[in-house]
Amino acid sequence: NSDKSLTGKTVLITAGPTYEAIDPVRFIGNHSSGKMGFSIAEEAANRGANVILISGPSSELSNHQNIEIFRVTSAKEMFTKVFEYYENADIAIASAAVADYAPKEIAQEKIKKSEDSLTIKLVKNPDILKTMGERKTKQFLVGFALETQNEEENAKGKLQKKNLDMIVLNSLRDEGAGFKGSTNKIKIITESTVTEFPLKSKTEVAKDILTFIEEQILK
Ligand code: PMT
Repeated sequence: NSDKSLTGKTVLITAGPTYEAIDPVRFIGNHSSGKMGFSIAEEAANRGANVILISGPSSELSNHQNIEIFRVTSAKEMFTKVFEYYENADIAIASAAVADYAPKEIAQEKIKKSEDSLTIKLVKNPDILKTMGERKTKQFLVGFALETQNEEENAKGKLQKKNLDMIVLNSLRDEGAGFKGSTNKIKIITESTVTEFPLKSKTEVAKDILTFIEEQILK
């Protein structure tokens, strides 16, 4: 791949976790740091793309001139921001760890400690990536799958159900893969292929993902 191989392309990327408020002081979240998504954003920008990066709460930073960062908190906020930019995107990559459920009601005041057990009713969040699949026109659409068992089968299921062009699988059963750390180990799955990559830094993983996408687009 040449240096500026994504010049003229708009790449939309989701990154990080989402936080779903329970009350003014508490939330439901997950261990995503945003590192994977920010690494993809940096690499796409280095290749000349115009990058729209929509991130949940993360301490990752970027001041790359080709990256416009929008910071959101909840899945619903991420959904709204994504669909402000999706239509114009040539490539969309969903690396965010979006909460599948959110508290049905957000308590207005801090919930007091009283009973021995507390029940919080959760309701399903919108599936951002699935909606992107439904609204796909020209976009090359890439999802992630974070699995702990039946990895390939589950990832393939998401590829089909969400109308994706490819999915990046990472498994929490592989040491050094997934959340937080600066490394990842992935398989890239398309309708007809499974390609396995060794454990690498997230910076290198981002290069593999974008090179694979470029090859698919040029096919
Ligand atoms: O941020 P890091 O610490 O670097 O960690 C990186 C990562 C492990 C978070 C990342 O590599 C990763 O796997 N991201 C996807 C995590 C995830 O939520 O996977 P999933 O299998 O639950 O979701 C499948 C796909 O649907 C994902 O592309 C997800 O972004 C998307 N999704 C899921 C639910 C939802 N409501 N909306 C979505 O868009």
